[in-house]
Amino acid sequence: MKQPTKHVFSYNIFLIGFMGSGKSAISDYLSEHYAMEKIEMDDQIAHREGMSISEIFDTHGEEYFRNLETGLLIELEDKKNVVVSCGGGTPMRENNVRQMKKTGKIVWLTADPETIYKRVKDSDDRPLLKGHKNTAYISQLMQQRRPKYEAAADLTIATDGKERAAICEELIQKLTEWEKQI
Ligand code: S3P
Repeated sequence: MKQPTKHVFSYNIFLIGFMGSGKSAISDYLSEHYAMEKIEMDDQIAHREGMSISEIFDTHGEEYFRNLETGLLIELEDKKNVVVSCGGGTPMRENNVRQMKKTGKIVWLTADPETIYKRVKDSDDRPLLKGHKNTAYISQLMQQRRPKYEAAADLTIATDGKERAAICEELIQKLTEWEKQI
């Protein structure tokens, strides 16, 4: 089997974007093909709490979950060369964005509401879409969140109609260009 090429970044890569924008798929690919450590925030939180994200929302409420996200980001302060797949709402708190910028670059993955709908339609673990799984609602929530994603992003990559490999190549290339400029 081909060994992954180790690509060592002196910082972390935080993937942000709406639910279903491809953060988990891209972090999986980067960790497999570039031998990067990967942290999937939702999985880590669910594992620690011993329940699914939906159960956390139902049992403790959204604010509790948001505080866990903030706490987890603070824990990542000493890491580098880690690809972090954030929850869709993580950059809504400005202190979360400041925390991410302390140790890494923020990459915003975008996708059209139709693409998002196709990717999330069979998922039962997205409490914010419960009862609203349609493109009109997705589009409205996306518009509402767009300014925060835009303000947080160091780089933006559109994912519609692209393969994972192409998205990752674009990401690495843009980061490498950015590194040359500094
Ligand atoms: C959320 C997105 C989810 C998860 C939670 C809240 C959001 O993560 O963190 O359901 O506020 O957009 P994904 O973006 O990985 O689905």
